[in-house]
Amino acid sequence: MQENKTIKGFSKLSKLGKIRWVVEHFFTEPDVVMKELKSYWLQNEAQQQLFDGFSENTISNFPLPYGIAPNFVINGKTYAVPMVIEESSVVAAASSAAKFWMTRGGFQVEIKNMIKSGHVHFYWDGPEEYLVNNFETVKRLLINDAKPITQNMENRGGGITNIELISFTSTEKNYYQIKGSFDTCDSMGANFINSVLEQFSKTISMYFLTVNEKLKTEFNCEVIMSILSNYTPECLAIAKVSCPVNQLHVGDAELTAKEFASRFCRAIKMAQIDTFRATTHNKGIFNGIDAVVLATGNDFRAIEACGHTHASRDGMYKGLTNCAIENDVFSFWLEIPLAIGTVGGLTSLHPIAKRSLELLGSPTAKELMAIIAATGLAQNFAAIKSLITTGIQKGHMKLHLLNILQTMQATPEEVASAQAHFQDRIVSFAAVREFLDLYRNKLKKIS
Ligand code: MEV
Repeated sequence: MQENKTIKGFSKLSKLGKIRWVVEHFFTEPDVVMKELKSYWLQNEAQQQLFDGFSENTISNFPLPYGIAPNFVINGKTYAVPMVIEESSVVAAASSAAKFWMTRGGFQVEIKNMIKSGHVHFYWDGPEEYLVNNFETVKRLLINDAKPITQNMENRGGGITNIELISFTSTEKNYYQIKGSFDTCDSMGANFINSVLEQFSKTISMYFLTVNEKLKTEFNCEVIMSILSNYTPECLAIAKVSCPVNQLHVGDAELTAKEFASRFCRAIKMAQIDTFRATTHNKGIFNGIDAVVLATGNDFRAIEACGHTHASRDGMYKGLTNCAIENDVFSFWLEIPLAIGTVGGLTSLHPIAKRSLELLGSPTAKELMAIIAATGLAQNFAAIKSLITTGIQKGHMKLHLLNILQTMQATPEEVASAQAHFQDRIVSFAAVREFLDLYRNKLKKIS
Protein backbone atom coordinates (compact mmCIF):
# COMPACT_ATOMS: atom_id res chain seq x y z
CA MET A 1 0.00 0.00 0.00
CA GLN A 2 1.37 3.43 -0.99
CA GLU A 3 1.59 6.17 1.62
CA ASN A 4 0.56 9.30 -0.30
CA LYS A 5 -3.19 8.95 -0.78
CA THR A 6 -3.80 12.23 -2.58
CA ILE A 7 -3.74 12.66 -6.32
CA LYS A 8 -3.98 15.42 -8.92
CA GLY A 9 -5.75 14.66 -12.19
CA PHE A 10 -7.46 11.42 -11.11
CA SER A 11 -10.28 12.08 -13.58
CA LYS A 12 -7.78 12.24 -16.44
CA LEU A 13 -6.48 8.71 -15.82
CA SER A 14 -7.82 5.88 -17.97
CA LYS A 15 -10.33 3.57 -16.31
CA LEU A 16 -7.62 0.98 -15.70
CA GLY A 17 -5.29 3.70 -14.47
CA LYS A 18 -7.95 4.80 -11.96
CA ILE A 19 -8.44 1.26 -10.67
CA ARG A 20 -4.69 0.72 -10.45
CA TRP A 21 -4.25 3.90 -8.43
CA VAL A 22 -7.13 3.02 -6.09
CA VAL A 23 -6.09 -0.57 -5.44
CA GLU A 24 -2.44 0.32 -4.94
CA HIS A 25 -3.19 3.11 -2.49
CA PHE A 26 -6.08 1.70 -0.46
CA PHE A 27 -5.94 -2.10 -0.50
CA THR A 28 -3.57 -4.67 0.90
CA GLU A 29 -4.17 -7.11 -1.98
CA PRO A 30 -4.19 -4.86 -5.06
CA ASP A 31 -4.23 -7.66 -7.65
CA VAL A 32 -7.12 -9.48 -6.00
CA VAL A 33 -9.18 -6.30 -5.68
CA MET A 34 -8.36 -5.23 -9.24
CA LYS A 35 -9.62 -8.58 -10.53
CA GLU A 36 -12.73 -8.36 -8.40
CA LEU A 37 -13.62 -4.84 -9.49
CA LYS A 38 -13.11 -5.79 -13.11
CA SER A 39 -15.29 -8.88 -12.69
CA TYR A 40 -18.27 -6.55 -12.25
CA TRP A 41 -17.71 -4.82 -15.58
CA LEU A 42 -20.39 -5.65 -18.10
CA GLN A 43 -19.38 -8.06 -20.86
CA ASN A 44 -20.97 -5.87 -23.47
CA GLU A 45 -18.52 -3.00 -23.99
CA ALA A 46 -21.08 -0.57 -25.39
CA GLN A 47 -23.34 -1.17 -22.41
CA GLN A 48 -20.46 -0.66 -20.00
CA GLN A 49 -19.63 2.62 -21.71
CA LEU A 50 -23.24 3.68 -21.30
CA PHE A 51 -23.06 3.00 -17.54
CA ASP A 52 -19.71 4.76 -17.21
CA GLY A 53 -21.30 7.75 -18.89
CA PHE A 54 -24.00 8.10 -16.19
CA SER A 55 -21.40 9.32 -13.70
CA GLU A 56 -17.75 10.25 -13.38
CA ASN A 57 -14.56 8.47 -12.29
CA THR A 58 -16.29 5.10 -12.66
CA ILE A 59 -14.14 2.07 -12.02
CA SER A 60 -16.74 -0.66 -11.73
CA ASN A 61 -20.46 -1.33 -11.26
CA PHE A 62 -22.29 -1.85 -7.98
CA PRO A 63 -25.02 -4.45 -8.51
CA LEU A 64 -28.18 -4.37 -6.41
CA PRO A 65 -30.97 -6.96 -6.40
CA TYR A 66 -33.82 -6.34 -8.85
CA GLY A 67 -37.00 -7.96 -7.53
CA ILE A 68 -40.67 -8.10 -8.44
CA ALA A 69 -43.70 -7.59 -6.22
CA PRO A 70 -46.64 -9.03 -8.15
CA ASN A 71 -50.40 -8.71 -7.63
CA PHE A 72 -50.64 -4.97 -7.17
CA VAL A 73 -54.15 -3.91 -8.13
CA ILE A 74 -54.05 -0.14 -8.51
CA ASN A 75 -57.06 1.82 -9.75
CA GLY A 76 -58.44 -1.44 -11.13
CA LYS A 77 -55.32 -2.38 -13.12
CA THR A 78 -52.94 -5.19 -12.13
CA TYR A 79 -49.20 -4.60 -11.99
CA ALA A 80 -46.05 -6.58 -11.23
CA VAL A 81 -43.95 -3.89 -9.57
CA PRO A 82 -40.17 -3.83 -10.08
CA MET A 83 -38.12 -2.99 -6.98
CA VAL A 84 -34.40 -2.35 -6.57
CA ILE A 85 -33.44 -2.77 -2.93
CA GLU A 86 -30.69 -4.37 -0.89
CA GLU A 87 -32.73 -4.87 2.29
CA SER A 88 -34.16 -8.32 2.96
CA SER A 89 -37.91 -8.72 3.50
CA VAL A 90 -38.93 -5.51 1.70
CA VAL A 91 -40.02 -7.11 -1.59
CA ALA A 92 -41.62 -10.03 0.27
CA ALA A 93 -43.53 -7.58 2.48
CA ALA A 94 -44.73 -5.48 -0.47
CA SER A 95 -45.84 -8.64 -2.28
CA SER A 96 -47.77 -9.95 0.69
CA ALA A 97 -49.53 -6.60 1.24
CA ALA A 98 -50.36 -6.38 -2.48
CA LYS A 99 -51.86 -9.87 -2.37
CA PHE A 100 -53.81 -9.08 0.79
CA TRP A 101 -55.40 -5.97 -0.74
CA MET A 102 -55.89 -7.57 -4.16
CA THR A 103 -58.95 -9.38 -2.83
CA ARG A 104 -60.21 -6.34 -0.93
CA GLY A 105 -60.59 -3.84 -3.75
CA GLY A 106 -56.93 -3.06 -4.31
CA PHE A 107 -55.34 0.38 -4.04
CA GLN A 108 -57.17 3.54 -5.05
CA VAL A 109 -54.79 6.34 -5.93
CA GLU A 110 -55.70 9.90 -6.77
CA ILE A 111 -53.16 12.26 -8.34
CA LYS A 112 -53.94 15.84 -7.44
CA ASN A 113 -51.57 17.72 -9.73
CA MET A 114 -48.25 17.61 -11.58
CA ILE A 115 -47.01 21.18 -11.19
CA LYS A 116 -43.40 21.75 -10.11
CA SER A 117 -41.64 24.97 -9.34
CA GLY A 118 -38.26 26.65 -9.19
CA HIS A 119 -36.83 30.00 -8.21
CA VAL A 120 -34.44 32.70 -9.24
CA HIS A 121 -33.07 33.96 -5.94
CA PHE A 122 -31.90 37.56 -6.13
CA TYR A 123 -31.13 40.71 -4.20
CA TRP A 124 -32.40 44.10 -5.42
CA ASP A 125 -31.75 47.24 -3.45
CA GLY A 126 -34.25 49.40 -5.29
CA PRO A 127 -37.78 50.26 -4.16
CA GLU A 128 -40.03 47.22 -3.75
CA GLU A 129 -43.05 49.04 -5.29
CA TYR A 130 -41.10 49.45 -8.51
CA LEU A 131 -40.65 45.68 -8.82
CA VAL A 132 -44.25 44.97 -7.87
CA ASN A 133 -45.68 47.60 -10.22
CA ASN A 134 -43.57 46.51 -13.18
CA PHE A 135 -43.77 42.78 -12.68
CA GLU A 136 -46.31 42.20 -15.46
CA THR A 137 -43.80 43.69 -17.94
CA VAL A 138 -40.98 41.59 -16.44
CA LYS A 139 -43.16 38.51 -16.69
CA ARG A 140 -43.80 39.06 -20.40
CA LEU A 141 -40.05 39.45 -20.98
CA LEU A 142 -39.30 36.28 -19.00
CA ILE A 143 -41.81 34.24 -21.01
CA ASN A 144 -40.64 35.68 -24.30
CA ASP A 145 -36.92 35.19 -23.71
CA ALA A 146 -37.48 31.60 -22.53
CA LYS A 147 -39.53 30.67 -25.63
CA PRO A 148 -36.69 28.83 -27.41
CA ILE A 149 -36.43 26.54 -24.36
CA THR A 150 -40.14 26.18 -23.63
CA GLN A 151 -41.46 25.76 -27.19
CA ASN A 152 -40.96 22.00 -27.33
CA MET A 153 -42.54 21.40 -23.94
CA GLU A 154 -45.46 23.63 -24.98
CA ASN A 155 -45.92 21.50 -28.09
CA ARG A 156 -46.22 18.48 -25.75
CA GLY A 157 -48.90 20.27 -23.71
CA GLY A 158 -46.72 21.62 -20.89
CA GLY A 159 -44.48 24.62 -20.23
CA ILE A 160 -44.55 27.55 -17.84
CA THR A 161 -47.86 27.69 -15.98
CA ASN A 162 -47.22 30.69 -13.75
CA ILE A 163 -44.60 33.26 -12.78
CA GLU A 164 -44.75 35.13 -9.47
CA LEU A 165 -42.66 37.64 -7.62
CA ILE A 166 -42.04 36.63 -4.03
CA SER A 167 -40.66 39.07 -1.52
CA PHE A 168 -38.68 37.91 1.50
CA THR A 169 -37.68 41.47 2.39
CA SER A 170 -39.39 41.31 5.78
CA THR A 171 -36.97 38.52 6.78
CA GLU A 172 -33.93 39.40 4.70
CA LYS A 173 -33.31 42.91 3.36
CA ASN A 174 -33.65 43.12 -0.47
CA TYR A 175 -34.20 39.36 -0.95
CA TYR A 176 -36.68 38.38 -3.69
CA GLN A 177 -37.51 35.37 -5.76
CA ILE A 178 -39.02 34.88 -9.15
CA LYS A 179 -41.01 31.71 -8.75
CA GLY A 180 -41.73 29.81 -11.93
CA SER A 181 -44.32 27.02 -12.00
CA PHE A 182 -44.05 24.35 -14.65
CA ASP A 183 -45.91 21.48 -16.23
CA THR A 184 -43.26 19.08 -17.51
CA CYS A 185 -45.71 16.46 -18.88
CA ASP A 186 -44.32 12.94 -18.50
CA SER A 187 -40.76 14.02 -17.79
CA MET A 188 -39.38 14.76 -14.34
CA GLY A 189 -38.24 17.98 -15.98
CA ALA A 190 -35.31 18.98 -13.78
CA ASN A 191 -33.13 19.99 -16.74
CA PHE A 192 -35.97 21.81 -18.42
CA ILE A 193 -36.87 23.78 -15.29
CA ASN A 194 -33.25 24.67 -14.49
CA SER A 195 -32.61 25.81 -18.06
CA VAL A 196 -35.68 28.05 -18.02
CA LEU A 197 -34.71 29.46 -14.62
CA GLU A 198 -31.18 30.24 -15.78
CA GLN A 199 -32.69 32.08 -18.74
CA PHE A 200 -35.00 33.94 -16.30
CA SER A 201 -31.94 35.05 -14.32
CA LYS A 202 -30.32 36.47 -17.47
CA THR A 203 -33.53 38.28 -18.40
CA ILE A 204 -33.97 39.82 -14.95
CA SER A 205 -30.34 40.96 -14.77
CA MET A 206 -30.61 42.46 -18.25
CA TYR A 207 -33.88 44.16 -17.37
CA PHE A 208 -32.27 46.11 -14.53
CA LEU A 209 -29.34 47.05 -16.74
CA THR A 210 -31.36 48.26 -19.69
CA VAL A 211 -34.76 49.45 -18.56
CA ASN A 212 -33.65 52.95 -17.61
CA GLU A 213 -30.56 54.85 -16.60
CA LYS A 214 -31.75 55.41 -13.00
CA LEU A 215 -32.21 51.70 -12.35
CA LYS A 216 -28.88 50.93 -13.92
CA THR A 217 -26.84 53.46 -11.98
CA GLU A 218 -28.59 53.81 -8.63
CA PHE A 219 -29.69 50.29 -7.78
CA ASN A 220 -28.01 46.97 -7.81
CA CYS A 221 -29.44 43.56 -8.71
CA GLU A 222 -27.49 40.47 -7.75
CA VAL A 223 -28.78 37.09 -8.83
CA ILE A 224 -27.52 34.53 -6.32
CA MET A 225 -28.85 31.35 -7.90
CA SER A 226 -31.48 29.77 -10.11
CA ILE A 227 -32.66 26.28 -9.24
CA LEU A 228 -35.76 24.11 -9.17
CA SER A 229 -37.25 23.25 -5.83
CA ASN A 230 -37.41 19.59 -4.88
CA TYR A 231 -40.35 20.45 -2.66
CA THR A 232 -43.26 19.76 -4.98
CA PRO A 233 -46.34 19.87 -2.73
CA GLU A 234 -48.65 20.08 -5.73
CA CYS A 235 -47.43 16.79 -7.27
CA LEU A 236 -49.56 15.05 -4.70
CA ALA A 237 -50.51 11.37 -4.75
CA ILE A 238 -53.07 10.01 -2.30
CA ALA A 239 -53.07 6.22 -2.11
CA LYS A 240 -55.79 4.48 -0.15
CA VAL A 241 -56.98 1.02 0.83
CA SER A 242 -60.18 0.25 2.68
CA CYS A 243 -62.39 -2.69 3.60
CA PRO A 244 -64.96 -3.69 6.20
CA VAL A 245 -63.21 -4.27 9.52
CA ASN A 246 -64.40 -7.88 9.61
CA GLN A 247 -62.30 -8.60 6.49
CA LEU A 248 -59.09 -7.75 8.31
CA HIS A 249 -58.08 -11.25 9.28
CA VAL A 250 -54.33 -11.38 8.97
CA GLY A 251 -52.57 -14.73 8.58
CA ASP A 252 -50.44 -15.58 11.57
CA ALA A 253 -51.94 -13.08 14.00
CA GLU A 254 -53.76 -14.21 17.09
CA LEU A 255 -55.87 -11.07 17.00
CA THR A 256 -59.48 -10.78 15.90
CA ALA A 257 -60.08 -8.57 12.86
CA LYS A 258 -61.49 -5.86 15.13
CA GLU A 259 -58.52 -6.02 17.50
CA PHE A 260 -56.13 -5.89 14.55
CA ALA A 261 -57.84 -2.80 13.10
CA SER A 262 -57.78 -0.97 16.40
CA ARG A 263 -54.16 -1.90 17.14
CA PHE A 264 -53.17 -0.89 13.59
CA CYS A 265 -54.75 2.55 13.91
CA ARG A 266 -53.02 3.07 17.24
CA ALA A 267 -49.68 2.28 15.63
CA ILE A 268 -50.37 4.83 12.87
CA LYS A 269 -51.35 7.42 15.49
CA MET A 270 -48.04 6.93 17.31
CA ALA A 271 -46.19 8.12 14.21
CA GLN A 272 -48.38 11.24 14.23
CA ILE A 273 -47.43 11.96 17.83
CA ASP A 274 -43.78 11.02 18.19
CA THR A 275 -41.04 12.13 15.81
CA PHE A 276 -38.74 9.24 16.74
CA ARG A 277 -41.42 6.77 15.70
CA ALA A 278 -42.42 8.90 12.67
CA THR A 279 -38.90 8.75 11.23
CA THR A 280 -38.78 4.95 11.34
CA HIS A 281 -42.38 4.72 10.16
CA ASN A 282 -41.58 6.87 7.11
CA LYS A 283 -38.33 5.00 6.51
CA GLY A 284 -40.47 1.90 6.05
CA ILE A 285 -42.65 3.74 3.52
CA PHE A 286 -39.55 4.84 1.60
CA ASN A 287 -38.31 1.23 1.56
CA GLY A 288 -41.05 0.67 -0.99
CA ILE A 289 -41.05 4.06 -2.67
CA ASP A 290 -37.29 4.31 -3.24
CA ALA A 291 -37.13 0.75 -4.57
CA VAL A 292 -39.63 1.52 -7.36
CA VAL A 293 -38.18 4.97 -7.97
CA LEU A 294 -34.74 3.38 -8.46
CA ALA A 295 -36.05 0.53 -10.62
CA THR A 296 -37.69 3.04 -12.95
CA GLY A 297 -34.60 5.26 -13.26
CA ASN A 298 -35.95 8.14 -11.18
CA ASP A 299 -34.22 10.32 -8.60
CA PHE A 300 -34.78 8.82 -5.14
CA ARG A 301 -32.91 11.64 -3.36
CA ALA A 302 -35.39 14.17 -4.73
CA ILE A 303 -38.33 11.97 -3.73
CA GLU A 304 -36.95 11.46 -0.20
CA ALA A 305 -36.15 15.15 0.35
CA CYS A 306 -39.64 16.14 -0.76
CA GLY A 307 -41.38 13.42 1.25
CA HIS A 308 -39.62 14.42 4.45
CA THR A 309 -40.45 18.11 3.91
CA HIS A 310 -44.08 17.10 3.39
CA ALA A 311 -43.94 15.06 6.60
CA SER A 312 -42.93 18.28 8.41
CA ARG A 313 -45.47 20.57 6.77
CA ASP A 314 -47.33 21.29 10.05
CA GLY A 315 -44.10 22.31 11.76
CA MET A 316 -43.54 18.87 13.25
CA TYR A 317 -42.20 15.77 11.52
CA LYS A 318 -45.01 13.19 11.35
CA GLY A 319 -45.85 9.85 9.78
CA LEU A 320 -46.99 10.08 6.17
CA THR A 321 -49.88 7.64 6.55
CA ASN A 322 -53.22 7.93 8.29
CA CYS A 323 -55.82 5.46 9.38
CA ALA A 324 -59.50 5.59 10.32
CA ILE A 325 -62.29 3.23 11.38
CA GLU A 326 -65.71 4.59 10.60
CA ASN A 327 -68.98 2.65 10.45
CA ASP A 328 -66.99 -0.58 10.72
CA VAL A 329 -64.94 0.29 7.66
CA PHE A 330 -61.15 0.39 7.96
CA SER A 331 -59.38 2.99 5.78
CA PHE A 332 -55.67 3.51 5.50
CA TRP A 333 -54.02 6.09 3.28
CA LEU A 334 -50.75 7.73 2.31
CA GLU A 335 -50.41 11.28 1.09
CA ILE A 336 -47.12 12.06 -0.58
CA PRO A 337 -45.78 14.42 -3.24
CA LEU A 338 -43.88 12.56 -5.95
CA ALA A 339 -42.02 14.33 -8.75
CA ILE A 340 -41.07 11.59 -11.19
CA GLY A 341 -40.90 11.02 -14.92
CA THR A 342 -41.42 8.25 -17.41
CA VAL A 343 -39.61 9.88 -20.30
CA GLY A 344 -36.17 11.45 -20.52
CA GLY A 345 -33.12 11.11 -18.31
CA LEU A 346 -32.20 7.71 -16.97
CA THR A 347 -35.72 6.40 -17.64
CA SER A 348 -34.86 6.27 -21.33
CA LEU A 349 -31.16 5.43 -21.01
CA HIS A 350 -30.83 2.74 -18.37
CA PRO A 351 -31.68 -0.57 -20.08
CA ILE A 352 -33.26 -2.12 -16.96
CA ALA A 353 -35.14 1.06 -16.07
CA LYS A 354 -36.58 0.95 -19.58
CA ARG A 355 -37.62 -2.67 -19.01
CA SER A 356 -39.21 -1.71 -15.68
CA LEU A 357 -41.38 0.82 -17.45
CA GLU A 358 -42.28 -1.73 -20.10
CA LEU A 359 -43.16 -4.21 -17.33
CA LEU A 360 -45.48 -1.56 -15.87
CA GLY A 361 -47.19 -1.12 -19.24
CA SER A 362 -45.31 2.05 -20.29
CA PRO A 363 -47.10 4.23 -17.73
CA THR A 364 -47.61 7.98 -17.91
CA ALA A 365 -45.94 9.96 -15.13
CA LYS A 366 -49.33 10.14 -13.36
CA GLU A 367 -49.74 6.37 -13.53
CA LEU A 368 -46.21 5.79 -12.24
CA MET A 369 -46.89 8.20 -9.36
CA ALA A 370 -49.90 6.03 -8.49
CA ILE A 371 -47.82 2.83 -8.61
CA ILE A 372 -45.09 4.31 -6.43
CA ALA A 373 -47.55 5.69 -3.88
CA ALA A 374 -49.38 2.34 -3.71
CA THR A 375 -46.09 0.53 -3.10
CA GLY A 376 -45.24 2.95 -0.28
CA LEU A 377 -48.64 2.32 1.32
CA ALA A 378 -48.31 -1.46 0.86
CA GLN A 379 -44.88 -1.37 2.48
CA ASN A 380 -46.18 0.56 5.46
CA PHE A 381 -49.17 -1.79 5.81
CA ALA A 382 -46.87 -4.82 5.83
CA ALA A 383 -44.43 -3.25 8.31
CA ILE A 384 -47.15 -2.19 10.76
CA LYS A 385 -48.92 -5.55 10.41
CA SER A 386 -45.71 -7.35 11.39
CA LEU A 387 -44.80 -4.90 14.14
CA ILE A 388 -48.16 -5.18 15.90
CA THR A 389 -48.38 -8.95 15.57
CA THR A 390 -45.33 -11.19 15.24
CA GLY A 391 -42.64 -8.47 15.26
CA ILE A 392 -40.40 -7.92 12.25
CA GLN A 393 -37.50 -10.08 13.32
CA LYS A 394 -39.25 -13.34 12.50
CA GLY A 395 -39.38 -12.54 8.80
CA HIS A 396 -36.05 -10.74 8.77
CA MET A 397 -34.25 -13.58 10.45
CA LYS A 398 -35.20 -16.12 7.78
CA LEU A 399 -33.40 -14.02 5.18
CA HIS A 400 -30.66 -12.99 7.58
CA LEU A 401 -29.93 -16.67 8.14
CA LEU A 402 -29.70 -17.23 4.38
CA ASN A 403 -27.34 -14.25 4.05
CA ILE A 404 -25.08 -15.59 6.79
CA LEU A 405 -25.10 -19.07 5.27
CA GLN A 406 -24.21 -17.59 1.91
CA THR A 407 -21.26 -15.72 3.42
CA MET A 408 -20.11 -19.03 4.92
CA GLN A 409 -20.48 -20.71 1.53
CA ALA A 410 -22.95 -23.26 2.84
CA THR A 411 -24.01 -26.08 0.52
CA PRO A 412 -27.74 -26.60 -0.26
CA GLU A 413 -27.78 -29.48 2.29
CA GLU A 414 -26.21 -27.27 4.94
CA VAL A 415 -28.75 -24.51 4.19
CA ALA A 416 -31.68 -26.91 4.56
CA SER A 417 -30.31 -28.32 7.77
CA ALA A 418 -29.57 -24.85 9.21
CA GLN A 419 -33.07 -23.64 8.31
CA ALA A 420 -34.60 -26.55 10.20
CA HIS A 421 -32.26 -26.02 13.15
CA PHE A 422 -32.95 -22.29 13.44
CA GLN A 423 -36.72 -22.59 13.07
CA ASP A 424 -37.19 -21.82 16.79
CA ARG A 425 -33.73 -20.55 17.69
CA ILE A 426 -32.17 -17.10 17.70
CA VAL A 427 -30.08 -16.44 14.59
CA SER A 428 -26.70 -14.81 15.08
CA PHE A 429 -23.46 -14.96 13.14
CA ALA A 430 -21.75 -16.84 15.99
CA ALA A 431 -24.61 -19.33 16.39
CA VAL A 432 -24.65 -20.12 12.66
CA ARG A 433 -20.84 -20.47 12.62
CA GLU A 434 -21.03 -22.90 15.54
CA PHE A 435 -23.84 -24.87 13.90
CA LEU A 436 -21.96 -25.16 10.59
CA ASP A 437 -18.67 -26.14 12.29
CA LEU A 438 -20.45 -28.91 14.18
CA TYR A 439 -22.32 -30.03 11.06
CA ARG A 440 -19.14 -30.10 8.97
CA ASN A 441 -17.16 -31.92 11.68
CA LYS A 442 -19.89 -34.55 11.98
CA LEU A 443 -19.78 -35.12 8.23
CA LYS A 444 -15.99 -35.42 8.31
CA LYS A 445 -16.18 -38.06 11.04
CA ILE A 446 -18.75 -40.07 9.07
CA SER A 447 -16.67 -40.02 5.89
C1 MEV B 1 -37.30 -1.47 8.38
O1 MEV B 1 -36.52 -1.26 7.23
C2 MEV B 1 -38.58 -0.67 8.31
C3 MEV B 1 -39.43 -0.68 9.57
O2 MEV B 1 -38.63 -0.32 10.70
C4 MEV B 1 -40.54 0.31 9.37
C5 MEV B 1 -41.39 0.59 10.61
O3 MEV B 1 -40.89 0.48 11.73
O4 MEV B 1 -42.54 0.98 10.39
C6 MEV B 1 -39.98 -2.06 9.85
